[in-house]
Amino acid sequence: MAMDPRDRLIVALDVSSVEAAQAMVARLGDAVTFYKIGYQLAFAGGMTYAHSLIDAGKQVFVDLKLHDIGNTVAQGVKSVARLGASFLTVHAFPQTMKAAVDAREGNLRILAVTVLTSYNDADLAAAGYDFTVAELVAERAAQARDIGVDGLVCSAEEAAKVRGIVGASFALVTPGIRPAGTDAGDQKRIATPAAAIAAGADYLVVGRPIIAAADPKAAAAAIVSEIAAAKKR
Ligand code: C5P
Repeated sequence: MAMDPRDRLIVALDVSSVEAAQAMVARLGDAVTFYKIGYQLAFAGGMTYAHSLIDAGKQVFVDLKLHDIGNTVAQGVKSVARLGASFLTVHAFPQTMKAAVDAREGNLRILAVTVLTSYNDADLAAAGYDFTVAELVAERAAQARDIGVDGLVCSAEEAAKVRGIVGASFALVTPGIRPAGTDAGDQKRIATPAAAIAAGADYLVVGRPIIAAADPKAAAAAIVSEIAAAKKR
């Protein structure tokens, strides 16, 4: 069954308090069905708030990029699953991915982060890796596929290449989305909603172009229309 285009839009609730999150969710109303909670809100009461969002019928993506010893990852994954979240990110290290996949339950799907988008080849060398970013992304995508992870976070630029490695059933979740004419901010590799869908993205993560817009609800609705009209690869 085809997905409702609204459910492909994930709004990043990058705000510093539960009150600010509640106000934004109220403004967005039924234009948005899926929210991402990261460090900023999670460490300011956001996990309890995630529970209310889920009770209100919204889907929640917990973007805490877990990476620890297997047992600690597994217990963390179980707690996030019990919360009723839909997506959780982990770093794409084989032990971490395996622990997360084995521990997931309920609705929870595990997304792997291959290489942080702020890293370049020199940053990898400084961290002791003998791989370029492109090589490491490909290697980790193949490992994620073999371990049975549910999806990957990747830029629109990488989506087509990654899709070739992981196959059709993987959820590709793409940040760095900027509708034509909006400010790029600190994002370097950006794509319009239509271009990201055309490149093979299943879900688009959008923060500032919606939450910093003069009319967030209209901005979200415009992105959903663009998703609906876009041709999926
Ligand atoms: O405001 P903006 O649309 O740039 O927000 C994008 C969101 O996606 C932020 O929450 C950011 O942390 C997240 N993200 C990203 N790039 C990644 C992974 C996550 O921009 N590679």
